[in-house]
Amino acid sequence: MRDKLNKIKDDFLAGLEKVKDKQALFGLEKKYLGRRGELATILRGLASLGEAERKDIGGLANEIKREFQGRISAFRSRLENQESGREFIDVTSPGRKVEGGHLHPVTLVRNDLEDLFSSMGFMVLDGPELESDFYNFTALNIPPYHPARDTQDTFYVDLPGRDNAGELVMRTHTSPMQVRAMRKYGAPLRCIVPGRVFRAEATDAVHEHTFEQMEGLMVGENISLANLIAVMKKLIAGIFKREIETRVRPGYFPFVEPGIELDIKCTICGGRGCPACKHGGWLELLPAGMVHPKVLAYGNIDPEKYSGFAFGLGLTRMAMMRYGIDDIRLFNSGDLRFLEQF
Ligand code: FA5
Repeated sequence: MRDKLNKIKDDFLAGLEKVKDKQALFGLEKKYLGRRGELATILRGLASLGEAERKDIGGLANEIKREFQGRISAFRSRLENQESGREFIDVTSPGRKVEGGHLHPVTLVRNDLEDLFSSMGFMVLDGPELESDFYNFTALNIPPYHPARDTQDTFYVDLPGRDNAGELVMRTHTSPMQVRAMRKYGAPLRCIVPGRVFRAEATDAVHEHTFEQMEGLMVGENISLANLIAVMKKLIAGIFKREIETRVRPGYFPFVEPGIELDIKCTICGGRGCPACKHGGWLELLPAGMVHPKVLAYGNIDPEKYSGFAFGLGLTRMAMMRYGIDDIRLFNSGDLRFLEQF
């Protein structure tokens, strides 16, 4: 009964919003407050209820009735004032609720990581999404015709009226910022670069064509793999705030030597196997390695004096694992039923 009354109230308020003239107002009044109106029907039915319920429902129905009467009379005066040309502001009418937006789940993870890395002295940098072939590939020790180019299906961009075929790409990873940052800031250097990257992917539960990565780079004297692993562990602990099983295995990327891959045990299925981990129980999350001497040289940094590590975190996949989301395509779906949960 309470639900029914609340529904009547919602319907009444929605109806009142649409009222434009006195005739419509009269119709609304009759529908809800008339002798055969919605409230009268409920009040008539009170006799059949037990005493306690009668009191409860009767009280609520009368309260709603008084509210309807008040609103109708305020509305009527407003219409009359409008007709007579007098200005009227109904200070008693309820305000319209402004729906507040909120941060996207990937942004929440990115903000946490930016805080974590800032606390360790890393700069947070931004890089271009439309990148030159040079920074995206060549300066990362992936020269033209190198087979490693094929592992990142690339959107090449031709500008109208310019003969620039193959010169510009939608960046396939955040790694191009490695050489850009080295050239700009020199050594020693500590930075992270979160941002969108693009690949001509056939999408599935873990592959998107547009997703976020976060590059990390540290260059200095005597930087070693031990420093890299310590930072990676800090990163995982900072995001998940609980014990997460990880494994490190060798990985190949032309711009690091040696290269490693850090995987985490799938938080969706606990490692049993599901579409989110391609039924392998582990999710590839954090490839990394020691910066290749050729890349340091492209960055105008002396590889004899300095060494460094770099990693390329799959930020969108990290958000999947943190929030237990089993399909990456939900992030860009624009589906409010999904987004409003964060
Ligand atoms: C790279 O992009 C390298 N630049 C990472 C790197 C940086 C290695 C620095 C060494 C040093 P890879 O293609 O594996 O590597 O992508 C990195 C991460 O991005 C993956 O581990 C994965 O978490 C995420 N990723 C890759 N492709 C997709 C995709 N299509 N959709 C969503 N996430 C993806």
